[in-house]
Amino acid sequence: MPATPAHRMRPGRLGDLLGIDIPVVQGPFGGGLSSVELTTAVSEGGGLGSYGAHVLSPEEITDLVAELRTRTRRPFAMNLWVPLDEETAPGPSDAELAAHAARLKPYYEELGVPAPTAADVAARPDYEAQLDALLAAAPPVISLVMGLPSPRLVAETRRLGIALIGTATTVSEAVALERSGVDAIVASGSDAGGHRGAFLRPVRESLVGTFSLVPQVADAVTVPVVAAGGIADGRGIAAALALGADAVQIGTGFLAVRESGASEVHRRTLGTPEARTTVLTRLFSGRTARGIPNRFVREMAAHEDAVPPYPVQNALMQPIRRAAGATGRAAYVNLWAGQAAALARTGTSAAEYLADLVTEAAGAGAAGR
Ligand SMILES: Cc1cc2nc3c(=O)[nH]c(=O)nc-3n(C[C@H](O)[C@H](O)[C@H](O)COP(=O)(O)O)c2cc1C
Repeated sequence: MPATPAHRMRPGRLGDLLGIDIPVVQGPFGGGLSSVELTTAVSEGGGLGSYGAHVLSPEEITDLVAELRTRTRRPFAMNLWVPLDEETAPGPSDAELAAHAARLKPYYEELGVPAPTAADVAARPDYEAQLDALLAAAPPVISLVMGLPSPRLVAETRRLGIALIGTATTVSEAVALERSGVDAIVASGSDAGGHRGAFLRPVRESLVGTFSLVPQVADAVTVPVVAAGGIADGRGIAAALALGADAVQIGTGFLAVRESGASEVHRRTLGTPEARTTVLTRLFSGRTARGIPNRFVREMAAHEDAVPPYPVQNALMQPIRRAAGATGRAAYVNLWAGQAAALARTGTSAAEYLADLVTEAAGAGAAGR
């Protein structure tokens, strides 16, 4: 039988590890932007669907893994953020919190939402409890961002037969992740949309573009490498595989498809000429993330360094982001997007997008490893 394009893009080492047919991972989306429909559509299509569980309670995690299992028998990944030191540091005083909230007062007023209470701001995910729920639910794959797995997590995932994936933004982080015992590493170039996951050095010292990062990580580690950041079509997949990656992780491209959990206004902006410009900003969450600049980002530019660190600014911004997303006001939505966002295909389904990626990648010479 002549080789079809789909057969030519082999799943490679990551396929052997995870049991997927094509070397494409749908990037997890934290902040409520993941959806069961998207995760299962990608897994059913032969890739690895992922679900960002960062904001979920342990009970929600248990229910979600059970639901995903009823929707697909294929492998899928559940993703968590490892807490950085700033999250365990003492929060701001009442006076400091009031000053930070005052900066946002015009936006609370314009959108007609109350400022969050001190209790809202103090609330944060309990990572250890999230992990316990995940291990009890035992999804096929757990992926982490923003840090290293503990020895206990590595031991437990091995015992339970769960594949463990870590995320690196620098070569040093990739080496540290391999030493920690992960089974595969996402090399996340600074082109990527959403939050930067730097955990060894400050973000500004950890901004390595995908084209530079992937071959250096592939040289430095022996576990499979998944290239992420700025990949949205088959040419990007072929290039990433040529650079030494075993697979790719696509975020923004999947955020644009019909099944994604992104708001209508967010999805509509992806794939347009406006999406050719993205910036790194702390304004929405207190942690550096890449998105399309809008009126809020431009008006608040002078406060980039003054806003409090994650999760305080994230909590202060939550009512604004929610109301803006629900009412379609792009001026205040966190329009997370990577540098290839204008290549995204709004309006297609995940299955169509995945099938097109496979055909295009093979046409662009991708063979897999
Ligand atoms: C809206 C959004 C939310 C994201 N949330 C997470 C997350 O919770 N955990 C994670 O590991 N990666 C997260 N990412 C990163 C993606 O999974 C993926 O690695 C990245 O988007 C790849 O770059 P690209 O956007 O250029 O395709 C997020 C990305 C976006 C755009």
